[in-house]
Amino acid sequence: MLVKMSELLADAQEGNYAVGSFSVANMEMVLGVLKASKELNAPVILQIAEVRLKQSPLEIIGPLMVAAAENADTPVAVHFDHGKTVEKITQALDIGFTSVMFDGSHLPLDENIEMTKKVIEIASDYDADVEAEIGCVGGSEDGSEDIAINCTKPEDAVRFEAETGVDALAIAIGNAHGNYKSTPKLRFDILEEVEKNTDVPLVLHGGTGITPDDFVRCSHTGIKKINIATATFDSVEKNVRRCYTENSIKGYYDLQAAEVEGAYQNAKKHILIFGTDNKA
Ligand code: 13P
Repeated sequence: MLVKMSELLADAQEGNYAVGSFSVANMEMVLGVLKASKELNAPVILQIAEVRLKQSPLEIIGPLMVAAAENADTPVAVHFDHGKTVEKITQALDIGFTSVMFDGSHLPLDENIEMTKKVIEIASDYDADVEAEIGCVGGSEDGSEDIAINCTKPEDAVRFEAETGVDALAIAIGNAHGNYKSTPKLRFDILEEVEKNTDVPLVLHGGTGITPDDFVRCSHTGIKKINIATATFDSVEKNVRRCYTENSIKGYYDLQAAEVEGAYQNAKKHILIFGTDNKA
């Protein structure tokens, strides 16, 4: 069933776990994530980022994501990731996404606060939730830029929460989008400080390549939503390659099944690490 992100994150705060937010680019990935969600009785979030719309147009993939969530047996939120423009954020809300991210991480804090408040006002007409970001997560969602990591200042998180009342807040603690060149060293000192001084559910971007131990530690230290993108795309591609190598793809529908399977395996792995199984 289609649900709000805030409901899933409130349950995650209560139950001391994190919810996986899986980026999808086509129907096969949606089906793979929902297969894992159903099998493990786990709530999930389906998301797509604004930079990915050149490959997967919002007016086509958006209704598909919403319909998939509505038809799921488990609770599924549909989220617009890294919204950069009010135009696309509004389009996602019109389609029925239950949450949107406004990414003002590149803006001075005052401007980020002002813009986030505007987006919250727009989203409130749709009864939808808003995620924002402060500090700067490294890399970029589509790998096109090598944005430097700029760790969140805990005092900024306190101010941001108080002034915006945002539903979820992405913070930068040494995490980056895409595959890490070396194992990331997350700044748990910063995360602990933010958690101690705020109530807002925190979001970890750049989930691909973070170790299971660090995921668990994050989920016990205020991180309630974990974004996984590259690992899904890699898992789908790798599984398709494996099936071709093993000669098990005899036609298009075997290829389609191999894609679904790749997305399923990746979602299943992360749901189990995040402790979201049997939380639906
Ligand atoms: P990864 O591509 O590193 O998994 O990051 C996903 C993400 O944070 C999407 O917003």
